[in-house]
Amino acid sequence: MTTNLGLNIITLVTLLITLTPTLIKSEESINVLLPISLNLTVLTDPFSISAASQDFGNITDETPGAVLCPSSSVEVSRLLRFASGEFSYGEDATGPSPGFKVAARGQGHSLRGQASAPGGIVVNMTCLAKAAKPAAVVVSADGTYADVAAGTMWVEVLETAVERGVSPVTWTDYLYLSVGGTLSNAGIGGQTFRHGPQISNVHELDVITGKGEMMTCSPKLNTELFYGVLGGLGQFGIITRARIALDHAPKRVKWLRILYNDFSDFTRDQERLISMVNDIRVDFLEGQLMMSNGFVDTSFFPLSDQTRVASLVNDHRIIYVLEVAKYYDTTTLPIINQVIDMLTRTLGFIPGFMFMRDVPYFDFLNRVRNEEDKLRSLGLWEVPHPWLNIFVPRSRIQDFHDGIIKGLLLNQTSTSGVTLFYPTNRNKWNNRMSAMIPDEDVFYVIGLLHSAGGSQNWEELDNLNDKIIHFCDTSGIKIKEYLMHYTRKEDWVQHFGPKWGDFLRRKIMFDPKKLLSPGQDIFS
Ligand SMILES: Cc1cc2nc3c(=O)[nH]c(=O)nc-3n(C[C@H](O)[C@H](O)[C@H](O)COP(=O)(O)OP(=O)(O)OC[C@H]3O[C@@H](n4cnc5c(N)ncnc54)[C@H](O)[C@@H]3O)c2cc1C
Ligand SMILES: *[C@@H]1O[C@H](CO)[C@@H](O)[C@H](O)[C@H]1NC(C)=O
Ligand SMILES: *[C@@H]1O[C@H](CO)[C@@H](O)[C@H](O)[C@H]1NC(C)=O
Ligand SMILES: *[C@@H]1O[C@H](CO)[C@@H](O)[C@H](O)[C@H]1NC(C)=O
Ligand SMILES: *[C@@H]1O[C@H](CO)[C@@H](O)[C@H](O)[C@H]1NC(C)=O
Repeated sequence: MTTNLGLNIITLVTLLITLTPTLIKSEESINVLLPISLNLTVLTDPFSISAASQDFGNITDETPGAVLCPSSSVEVSRLLRFASGEFSYGEDATGPSPGFKVAARGQGHSLRGQASAPGGIVVNMTCLAKAAKPAAVVVSADGTYADVAAGTMWVEVLETAVERGVSPVTWTDYLYLSVGGTLSNAGIGGQTFRHGPQISNVHELDVITGKGEMMTCSPKLNTELFYGVLGGLGQFGIITRARIALDHAPKRVKWLRILYNDFSDFTRDQERLISMVNDIRVDFLEGQLMMSNGFVDTSFFPLSDQTRVASLVNDHRIIYVLEVAKYYDTTTLPIINQVIDMLTRTLGFIPGFMFMRDVPYFDFLNRVRNEEDKLRSLGLWEVPHPWLNIFVPRSRIQDFHDGIIKGLLLNQTSTSGVTLFYPTNRNKWNNRMSAMIPDEDVFYVIGLLHSAGGSQNWEELDNLNDKIIHFCDTSGIKIKEYLMHYTRKEDWVQHFGPKWGDFLRRKIMFDPKKLLSPGQDIFS
């Protein structure tokens, strides 16, 4: 579908408030009907439409009718009041009836069209962040929190906070994601075991509900909305502001990759380090697999060691990489050296295969940007990404490893992309939030971050994902998917399990016309 009106920007502003409806049409059908009295300007030019149709997944193409680039949250509220039928034309007056859906779009790093609204209106959250007064990121006087426009990218939050010597405490691996986008999912990474996901580090939110109401919510105020939107997949409202917890920003980071050839040694050490009952207390913990049938990226390691790391992978077919980091300031350096010493003495890695880098805090957190630059230069960034992200209960991780990693992945002629493999703790997740995790104190984050192109197309990789899910189903491994895209209602009901009733109740309470984020395919 193409949208072409000859005009690039349709301006619906008039000096007189009039009830004359203006039709925004695509060539095929009416997409969006906005009354002039709404005083909203939307974009329907081919560039805007095409940008809002695609996402990082590079698999779906969902064409919206128009894009709203709002300059204030009042505009978003007006749009939603109209779309939900709550907009008043004044006494005895009638206007066009709405019939379109609305989706907030942060950075569009969704995988399957979750940030689009076919035939409806996409709200570009970047516009709102750029227009934020006095600024998109405002650090409190005491430095304990920041008020952040939801369309802001995490990298921008970091930049502003570190200038004041403070920083959010928990991160995603990649920072060019919007605050509103990750809070709608969970926001997980190597600090989650210690501080919880990003949704556990928010004090307060401003949200515009599906009825266009502007509400402030927190653990004390409008709690149903607060817990609903955190991990709520955009279903209850559009987050416009988030108050994010901050703490001291360290200056530098000791960043280690430690190699294992034995799976149980690897997981035993990972689990010991996240249990925090030891005195080592690392600040970050993740893990990855290096497989001989995949691309073995040795760029982390010193040049002189890259060959021996590569041959280690070849010899063993699979090497498990424990990744930890310890933050420090110049004054804490002696303690850090003791910690590194203790790691060297107590962990069960392959002797001689512990590698360390010493980097500034910002560079550590922004490490995936370098990978992006590399992939972009090779034309391997804008390719289909049939990613599979799952949470696996600790009690079944060995079965998962034997069945999936050894049985399936190592048995492929080739594998593509990065495979994340690390445990995290459940105790920092709040069960009242919408995000779903397995019912066990420790669970593993498994990310199969496939890139298609080259030898495999995305459908083949997606088949592999289906096999993985099927294996877990038939073996009774009770996984939860993350960043999932189900299209059948029964899958959503099963995903939310005991929380489905709350999810549905909150939907009826805050978005009764089911307008918001239709690309999640939960209520359509
Ligand atoms: C390279 C890469 C690395 C990643 N690494 C991690 C990681 O380490 N950990 C992790 O947890 N995730 C990770 N992700 C996934 C990421 O958190 C999600 O894709 C997230 O949705 C991206 O944010 P976005 O701003 O691009 O969201 P979008 O794709 O724009 O939106 C996602 C969903 O949220 C809704 N939404 C967006 N903004 C708002 C808002 N303000 N209010 C309400 N709803 C809203 C949208 O309608 C949509 O349904 C990664 C993604 C990529 C591409
Ligand atoms: C319409 O909105 C613009 C801002 O987008 C504002 O400057 C203008 O005053 C509004 N017009 C009316 C008639 O409300
Ligand atoms: C959103 O707005 C920003 C800033 O104006 C712009 O750079 C970006 O291309 C827009 N995105 C979409 C999908 O329209
Ligand atoms: C995938 O990305 C390529 C390169 O940017 C683009 O030409 C193509 O239209 C995209 N396809 C989809 C379905 O998004
Ligand atoms: C590995 O692949 C071969 C050929 O496809 C198959 O016959 C074999 O059963 C597979 N092994 C495992 C452990 O799945």
